[in-house]
Amino acid sequence: MTTQKRVLITSALPYINGIKHLGNLAGSMLPADVYARFQRSRGRETLYICATDEHGTPAELAAIEENLPVAEYCTKWWAIQKKLGEGFGLSFDYFGRSSSIQNRELTQHFAKTLWERGHIEERTTRQVYSKADGRFLPDRYVIGTCPHCGYDRARGDQCENCTRVLDPADLIQPRSALSGSTDIELRDSKHLFLQQAKFSDELRKWIGTRQEWSPLVTSIALKWLDEGLQDRGITRDLAWGVPVNAETWGPNPDGKRPDVEGLKGKVFYVWFDAPIEYIGSTKEWADSAPAGTNSRDWKSWWVGDDAQKNVRYVEFMGKDNVPFHTVGFPVTILGSGEKWKLVDQIKGFNWLNYYGGKFSTSQKRGIFMDAALEILPPDFWRWYLTANAPESADSSFTWQHFADTVNKDLADVLGNFINRTLKFTEGKFGAQVPEGGKPGPKETKLADELERRFGIYTVFLEEIQLRKAAQELRAIWVLGNEYLADAAPWTTIRTDKDAAAVSVRVAINLIRLFAILSAPVIPFASEAMAKALGLDIKTLHWPKGKIADEMAVLKPGHAFTIPPVLFAKIAPEQIAAWEERFGGAGP
Ligand code: MF3
Ligand code: ZN
Repeated sequence: MTTQKRVLITSALPYINGIKHLGNLAGSMLPADVYARFQRSRGRETLYICATDEHGTPAELAAIEENLPVAEYCTKWWAIQKKLGEGFGLSFDYFGRSSSIQNRELTQHFAKTLWERGHIEERTTRQVYSKADGRFLPDRYVIGTCPHCGYDRARGDQCENCTRVLDPADLIQPRSALSGSTDIELRDSKHLFLQQAKFSDELRKWIGTRQEWSPLVTSIALKWLDEGLQDRGITRDLAWGVPVNAETWGPNPDGKRPDVEGLKGKVFYVWFDAPIEYIGSTKEWADSAPAGTNSRDWKSWWVGDDAQKNVRYVEFMGKDNVPFHTVGFPVTILGSGEKWKLVDQIKGFNWLNYYGGKFSTSQKRGIFMDAALEILPPDFWRWYLTANAPESADSSFTWQHFADTVNKDLADVLGNFINRTLKFTEGKFGAQVPEGGKPGPKETKLADELERRFGIYTVFLEEIQLRKAAQELRAIWVLGNEYLADAAPWTTIRTDKDAAAVSVRVAINLIRLFAILSAPVIPFASEAMAKALGLDIKTLHWPKGKIADEMAVLKPGHAFTIPPVLFAKIAPEQIAAWEERFGGAGP
């Protein structure tokens, strides 16, 4: 693996409407954050980019429900999501908005380029028009009676009752979901289609070079290619979105100009502009640099020979997003003929389930980011969701499993180690690293084991194998406890104070080391651990040399304080109360 590259990291952009649930967090934003923090700690130049995905029908509908103009609605919810991200310690270098000017310009640039290179085609399609609303209605804005089951509030894209996929034309007594008007009809409407099919071979070849992708990602990507790529409609009859800018386009290679009149008032489909916002948000980051700094060169991350050679680009997402990132977005990039960076590694996730069912935003099922932070510190969630990341299969959240994991790993193993070490030392030697004695075989053995596990842990993080990384981190904490139990300073202190001094000196240094190694996953606790040792976590970096040296950084006389309880155990009554509040096992 080339290790000197700059690292560009993106998380799938959360939809603007509503607060995200823990499944969203676990399958993109959190693992991307763990990886970004790890890379920064290693001293690599890292850029972690995210944004809200603001366009499309769901945003429009949600705004109507809240009785706000859609732009205002998005501004409000962007701020809420940004704040919740901060609450969870998501260390975005920038959290942008797909409705930004930057993204509008980039999206329009890509569309114009794709047209002029002959990759976009115009077609006339039949769309539902509502006279009362004075607008075209997207499929889900049309409701009526399901022809299959008779459910009278079936949507034009799907019947919620019998789950059959529908076309608005199938509905009996169709009406507008906006006004309820039945005065609707089918009208011709011009739309743009991106000719994906002709990129099949190029995509297949590229995917063939992506050895590092997991089977989950590769199989989804190839399935789409094997089924034959369809050309994809990239425009919609909506008011909210990036406007189609056909008036600025030149002729395509056949000399044809776009139908500017016919395309007036349309916007690009949300899945066309959303991935472009990865670039857009990077430009937002650059444009928002404080006056006097010009170090934010967004292009150096995304386009040109330097980016191609020196940037490693890693995307994080749930499995439903994979086709858009292995086919859709790459076609936009390849079709442009410009030197934009294609993704290097895609980390795809399965689902996190809630009591065997799915977390669901529309059904308000499961735990949402705001409620999670309201009841427990962010690190509890970060630890659980990393240790149980839905990597090779779906994973299932239950309150009991969550409490057991957190109580055991964080409270019993890590918290207990810190607490015993510092309390005992303070009691016997005062609140500082004691002097006396020399490390012996116990310490050598510990250093050897730590060295080995540290190496494995680093590789797992590098490979973004999060469950395995968390297991390894936990095993590293366990080494601390085993060492203490074995060295037993509370016994040796009676006969050999120097031996006890060696043990706690090493143990205090382990707290420092654990703070560094744990920081990607539980940054808040790591910060508190460092602070207790009078250190600033921001100045501590991933070990580069021997672990044995890390065990002797803090010298005799180095003062510490006892930190507040880092991980209070979750009590059975709390589990019961949360099962009740959030809905647990039973009906
Ligand atoms: N908003 C989408 C989702 O939550 C993800 C968009 S990812 C992007 O499924 F690439 F399009 F930005
Ligand atoms: Zn039905």
